[in-house]
Amino acid sequence: MMSDYTWFEGIAFPAIGFQKEILKDVRDKFVLKEEDLIILTYPKSGTNWLAEIICLIQTKGDPKWVQSVPIWERTPWLETDIGYSELINKEGPRLMNSHLPMHLFPKSLFSSKSKAIYLIRNPRDILVSGYFFWGKTNLVKNPESLGTYFEWFLKGNVLFGSWFEHVRGWLSMREWDNFLVLYYEDMKKDTKGTIKKICDFLGKKLEPDELDLVLKYSSFHVMKENNMTNFSIIGKDVIPNGMNLMRKGTTGDWKNHFTVAQAEAFDKVFQEKMAGFPPGMFPWE
Ligand code: A3P
Repeated sequence: MMSDYTWFEGIAFPAIGFQKEILKDVRDKFVLKEEDLIILTYPKSGTNWLAEIICLIQTKGDPKWVQSVPIWERTPWLETDIGYSELINKEGPRLMNSHLPMHLFPKSLFSSKSKAIYLIRNPRDILVSGYFFWGKTNLVKNPESLGTYFEWFLKGNVLFGSWFEHVRGWLSMREWDNFLVLYYEDMKKDTKGTIKKICDFLGKKLEPDELDLVLKYSSFHVMKENNMTNFSIIGKDVIPNGMNLMRKGTTGDWKNHFTVAQAEAFDKVFQEKMAGFPPGMFPWE
């Protein structure tokens, strides 16, 4: 397993585009500013959907920006070699995303007033989404079956480590004023309500027609057609088989893939690992 990833502090990162020295600098040296906004997620939680919504809120629904600049330039990915160098040189308010577990995130967050949004999704759907997304790439060790990936996921032997530890870590911040927790399942059920919640958190006011434009241009079907968002312009030299970001965009797809035994095994681990959270903390449970 060792040669398939870049390892840092026991956490697996993609073999391409990540370096230990940079991951260390991100944690120890990156200085967050009050006007920064960070999108935090465990991979496959809907990161790019949230990023698209935030970009569209910033332009009041005008799609020009999201249709002309790749999403990874609009919201650089902090812990990557490229994202880090872009962000340290960027003036003014910075929008960024990160999949880092809390203990590897820049320490400066805890003494800054920057805002962060943590998006959570049912880990069963994340597992299935990740299997189909990463499995085809040269960025990770390829599991030969969903069953193999299932075992790795429950043990946390996957990119960015254990979902359970990621969520437990970041949820410890949920009472902070500048920290908003969102759920993919709520975004699906009430996208407009979620966009309004994000606007309130950011102190932005949208007119009803602007809100409708944000809704329209961040919808699954429009994002799937947007080459600046759907990952289709990533070079075949980087990812030979391409990357299908916009796969299904649904909740509960795991039911089409898990066996009964896998569903039961997952429930057991979930209950053990997430014990102690108040009822209602996870909307899909
Ligand atoms: P699926 O693979 O289940 O379809 P991330 O951006 O963190 O990598 O997450 C990718 C997941 O978010 C994919 O899930 C993708 O389809 C889903 N997604 C992206 N944009 C979406 C949208 N506008 N509406 C609903 N789901 C979306």
